[in-house]
Amino acid sequence: MSQSVTSDAAPADLLPYVESDEQALELVRLVDWARLPRHIAIIMDGNGRWAGLQGLPRVEGHRAGITSVREVVETAARAGIETLTLYAFSVENWKRPRQEIDALMELLKEYLGRELGTLLEHSIRFESIGRLDGLPEDVQEDVRSAIAATSANTGMRFIIALNYGGRTEIVDAFRAALEVARNGDFDPAELDESWLSNYLYTAGVPDPDLLIRTSGELRISNFMLYQIAYAEIWVTSKLWPDFRRADLLRAIVDFQKRERRYGAVDTGRG
Ligand code: IPE
Ligand code: IPE
Ligand code: MG
Repeated sequence: MSQSVTSDAAPADLLPYVESDEQALELVRLVDWARLPRHIAIIMDGNGRWAGLQGLPRVEGHRAGITSVREVVETAARAGIETLTLYAFSVENWKRPRQEIDALMELLKEYLGRELGTLLEHSIRFESIGRLDGLPEDVQEDVRSAIAATSANTGMRFIIALNYGGRTEIVDAFRAALEVARNGDFDPAELDESWLSNYLYTAGVPDPDLLIRTSGELRISNFMLYQIAYAEIWVTSKLWPDFRRADLLRAIVDFQKRERRYGAVDTGRG
């Protein structure tokens, strides 16, 4: 019943997608559509615990988590979010059992194979951050081909963090910058924050405004260490496979109640 939605500014694309979901529809009314976070980043966590609670192997939690990925990507794109980054595999995740890692790589390939149509339908630009070269060849190929197939899209930028580490990213930025310095004149006084930003994997991408973590863990787990300097952090106890469109909308509504000060004083309230 999209007629009952009063918020004029809610994107027309989103309404048919939420109309059968009462909770999401309610939240759509609460969102200030003129003040969306430009970049939402998500630490998807709790797949293993979700599986454990169902008496299933961990891999089934990862499989179930794909449903959440599909729903969140589509909701964010329809809502008009500029950039969505999902943390899918960290450089530390290689410590996991081989069988779990293999299953994660297979699921990623399955996802890319099945979802390309959706990405194109919503004009989503798919990108990746992390040490892509360190992934199995076949996974690299699928990731690169999804990037190429969606590179002309003009809608939401969907960045997947794969073999990603925040410290690794800073190390890689230093390596690249020192390489440049070695090949030419370089005045250390020129090095500033925007210069450094341009050597990160996220060069050209605005910093996340909203950082979401599922499964209740209160830690960053080496994610976007440089970029989240002033991100608003939103944690839910929900496990990632249970995360739905309404949860994303709830995070946006809560984000909009925060006062972002960036170190300054509150000017609006006397
Ligand atoms: C997140 O779920 C998925 C990845 C890190 C790849 P986990 O696999 O970390 O699930 P928990 O935290 O063990 O429940
Ligand atoms: C963070 O989850 C990494 C990803 C979501 C890819 P983890 O489950 O690996 O983090 P820790 O080990 O609990 O810190
Ligand atoms: Mg975890």
